[in-house]
Amino acid sequence: MKHIFQQGSNPSKPTFLVLHGTGGNEHDLLPIASHIDPEASVLSVRGNVSENGMPRFFKRLSEGVFDMEDLKARTEELNQFIATAAEEHGFDRSNVIAIGYSNGANIAANLLFTYSDALKGAILHHPMVPNRETQLPDLSGVQVFIAAGTNDPICPAEESTDLEGLLQNAGAAVKLHWENYGHQLTMPEVEAAKAWYDQL
Ligand code: MLT
Repeated sequence: MKHIFQQGSNPSKPTFLVLHGTGGNEHDLLPIASHIDPEASVLSVRGNVSENGMPRFFKRLSEGVFDMEDLKARTEELNQFIATAAEEHGFDRSNVIAIGYSNGANIAANLLFTYSDALKGAILHHPMVPNRETQLPDLSGVQVFIAAGTNDPICPAEESTDLEGLLQNAGAAVKLHWENYGHQLTMPEVEAAKAWYDQL
């Protein structure tokens, strides 16, 4: 997959798996990753799907309606890519924390819904429940931060609270953070994510 890898200055720090929103690319969220932890390594990936020229991480049938077969295949592809990248770039595969926004947060959530060991943690900005028909793996020890907007037209409030509940039931430790904005990624929620990360 097309990506940027930035070696961190402190090898004990995690590698951030950075995943953009629809129409974005691997450059978009780099400033957020370095704000959260300037010493961490960064693997920022471009989605392999193009929707009228807009990069995404999996296909959708319409707004908020996912192509579940493609989501499954792309999730497996991304998980495999992380392992390949860990060998190529020499980072610790077991110490990866995702930072995703919107479509990128949704595929990160689906990594959590599919594998117990894909991610050590995840910062999910405006995610949805990626799959309501699946049994989650054991996510004990996994740390998740969810940022949601009370006026988000793409993610109604129950998408966030349902996601929180499903992850908690699977054993993950989840912090759900609200801002009174819409679907946009805001600076206050990035600051809240950093405060959460700093106390891990
Ligand atoms: C998605 O398709 O993943 C969500 O609707 C969010 C978006 O990318 O608009």
